Amino acid sequence: MKNIDQYLTANADRFVDELKAFLRIRSVSADSQFKDEVRKAARFVLDQLKGAGLTAELVETEGHPIVYGEWLGAPGAPTVLIYGHYDVQPPDPLDQWITPAFEPTIRDGCIFARGATDDKGQVFTHVKSIEAWMKTAGRLPVNVKLVIEGEEEVGSNNLDLFLERNKAKLKADVAVISDTSQYAPDMPAITYGLRGIVACEITVKGPKQDLHSGVFGGAIANPVNMLARLIGALHDDRGRVTIPGFYDDVLPLTADERARFAALPFNREAFLKELGVPAEWGEEGFTSIERRWARPTCDVNGIKGGYQGEGPKTIIPASATAKITCRLVPNQNPDRIVAALEKYLRGLCPPAVRLEFNTWHNCPGFVFDANSRFMAAARKAIEIAFGVAPVMIREGGSIPVAASFRTLLGVDTLLLGWGQNTDNLHSPNEHFHLADFHRGTRASAHLWLEMSKVK
Ligand code: BES
Ligand code: MN
Ligand code: MN
Repeated sequence: MKNIDQYLTANADRFVDELKAFLRIRSVSADSQFKDEVRKAARFVLDQLKGAGLTAELVETEGHPIVYGEWLGAPGAPTVLIYGHYDVQPPDPLDQWITPAFEPTIRDGCIFARGATDDKGQVFTHVKSIEAWMKTAGRLPVNVKLVIEGEEEVGSNNLDLFLERNKAKLKADVAVISDTSQYAPDMPAITYGLRGIVACEITVKGPKQDLHSGVFGGAIANPVNMLARLIGALHDDRGRVTIPGFYDDVLPLTADERARFAALPFNREAFLKELGVPAEWGEEGFTSIERRWARPTCDVNGIKGGYQGEGPKTIIPASATAKITCRLVPNQNPDRIVAALEKYLRGLCPPAVRLEFNTWHNCPGFVFDANSRFMAAARKAIEIAFGVAPVMIREGGSIPVAASFRTLLGVDTLLLGWGQNTDNLHSPNEHFHLADFHRGTRASAHLWLEMSKVK
């Protein structure tokens, strides 16, 4: 491993330069105006994989392309399926970025840009560790298959079809994803559970166009007022979601898991200060960690309707829209939750308005076996690179492919996150600590060796 570690050190600055080039590409999957940029990012990944010595191809989908790469020159050794995404969240609100979202800048030991930690920087750790092996040893100790997609941030809707069509080709012993976070700075983690998600959009429709609120107000329903009523009815005073049946399939936390969560360091004051909120809020009877990792939620992500410009304007708006997501925990069925939400909202909506209900994407929550076959290898690799053993955590975010790997390919995933939850993912000034980038790359390089020893 010595020459590989040396290669990583000798080439560290070049890795950062190449990551910068990756981050300059505006691969915003949600926004069709960036379609060409998304493809450009796919090509960048393709060239990187080829440059590292893998065979690689672009696979077209109904949406953005998937990059597939492989190196299968280690017969008898385990095969590792590596997943990541090259698409990013929209950079808005633009005016809150200290330096522009797509002009990567190094400050305070961090690289700032949209996608720095989620997920371009983290994907890059695996690309570079593979390059290091191939350029120094001319081989890898394990077989690798990489699936780097461009639609994770919009729900991975075309990925399952690719997995289903390529079951044999994608056969692997274990999957690795670096798209989560460490528990805290210098507290690397292995994540054994993620929440699922359902995403939908509701529109309350009133009059056929905006109307004078003095002439007609009071005699017809106001769609914005109605939407607010619907949203207000999603929770009770104890912070519980009021959709009938919402909690029916939720597995209660075991006493043992609650104790393990509670044993993790948690500084409430620092948590509140970091987020800029005056107090915690959530479902009664649960701690913040439990609420984030193991309890389902229902949140409005955005709301639109009526006059948004400067100064007053007296109208009854024609319509109002809200984007809603529920985070789900294991055993909740996404389709049933969406159906229950739609039924509940329709029941609350008076005949004086019309309700439109559209769904975007969904995926279930899950937990993995925390003692699986490859876990010890991951622990060891992380310990070598970070100098401390990882803690076992669950997280509240969602990565749709992880559940699909299990259900469609029968492979379990190791979620090895090198980032921090405070890296501003999905927020302005997203960044990735360069130390985490380099440690992550080193952990990845050691991971392949440790995994090759697993029988
Ligand atoms: N990398 C995140 C998920 C994540 C972040 C998990 C931090 C755990 C810790 C991923 O890119 C993401 O943002 N996923 C979306 C899911 C989706 C279907 C749009 C999410 O969780 O909102
Ligand atoms: Mn991600
Ligand atoms: Mn994301």
